[in-house]
Amino acid sequence: MLASPVSPPSTFDAEAVRASVPALHQSVNGRPLVYLDNGATTQKPRPVIDRIVRYYERENANVHRGVHRLSQDATDAMEAARERVGAFVGVDAREVVFTRGTTEAVNLVASTWGRENVRSGDELVVTMDAHHANFVPWQMLAEAVGARLRVVPVREDGSLDRDAYAAALSSKTRLVALGHVSNALGTVHPVADLVAMAHDAGALALVDGAQALAHVPVDVRAIGADFYVASAHKAYGPMGIGALFARADLLEAMPPYQFGGDMIDEVTVERTTFAAPPSKFEAGTPHVEGIVGMAAALDWLDGLGRDAVFAHEHDVLAYATARLDALGGIRLVGTAPGKVSVLSFLVDGAHPYDVGALLDQQGVAVRTGNHCAQPLMTHLGVPGTVRATFAVYNTRADADVLVAAVAKAQAMLVG
Ligand code: ALA
Repeated sequence: MLASPVSPPSTFDAEAVRASVPALHQSVNGRPLVYLDNGATTQKPRPVIDRIVRYYERENANVHRGVHRLSQDATDAMEAARERVGAFVGVDAREVVFTRGTTEAVNLVASTWGRENVRSGDELVVTMDAHHANFVPWQMLAEAVGARLRVVPVREDGSLDRDAYAAALSSKTRLVALGHVSNALGTVHPVADLVAMAHDAGALALVDGAQALAHVPVDVRAIGADFYVASAHKAYGPMGIGALFARADLLEAMPPYQFGGDMIDEVTVERTTFAAPPSKFEAGTPHVEGIVGMAAALDWLDGLGRDAVFAHEHDVLAYATARLDALGGIRLVGTAPGKVSVLSFLVDGAHPYDVGALLDQQGVAVRTGNHCAQPLMTHLGVPGTVRATFAVYNTRADADVLVAAVAKAQAMLVG
């Protein structure tokens, strides 16, 4: 059971934030939308939308190719965004590889560093609560090269079983793949400690920050991660863009991921040499509007004050959790201390999907199902959950609507 006391509402001006997010101001099924599916994707604030429009109205051209003015402008905008995105997580621009998102970033590491460095008899360590994007690529790599995949269980509350993690590490471990924040439960893992333990065992560490970037402080150097991956769209930016943050020496040594324009140094009929990182990993025309939109989103978040944002989200989550629990007949799934953003639950006697559908009828958007974390759901013995995920623009009033809607669904489904 969560024991977080519900304190007085924060003074953070979430209403002002809401005012700048157009998609929140609409009705769904005849009710004002209450958007609580932020773990799947966040809605976009006006400055991000405007930045993308400005890119297309003023700067659009292909990058790194033209001598003409627009191409130079687009290139400058993209490379300034690289600096900005890197600075948000405390790394240099040369350590930022733009990808389609978290999923591609993990696949990039698995299929370049992984194929080069993981051999038969080696071990890879993942966690039971991993998103499939940080589980399946390692499972596939292990299968392909004859390595062993070790899966560390989580406890009933969703926190990692640290003893089991320690026991899984050995001189055979090549890499541990950790989640910073569980997308299904909201558990914040002590990644700096876990990475240090991996390093002590001689392994590298990749941290999936998809659910962390917008909800907890992220300092990749302080965490010590060799690879850190994230998506823009879960942090108020556009879809289809994200980044791999990686140690410069690792990027130097890794083979390319895909081949094509922009990633080469010289091509002759006989052979090809490759550009320096990060270009080496960015074949083809990049998603420039996504990249500038990602930087605009992180600027927007920083402009709100990250500490104030996180405190506000904590307040709304604690309030929603306490009120939902007070209904009775609710099973909270994932109650680790310090969890963020995610309220996963079951209504006793009702299938999560039916609850989700009834919430949608009341204008409340949540996700139901296994949340791309099937091993976790099996481990916890649940078919899936109803998952409400909070963002900076959500309020206690949203939590009240959620709880009233769950009560109504409960009355209809369970009686
Ligand atoms: N990974 C996203 C989620 O957790 C889609 O909903």
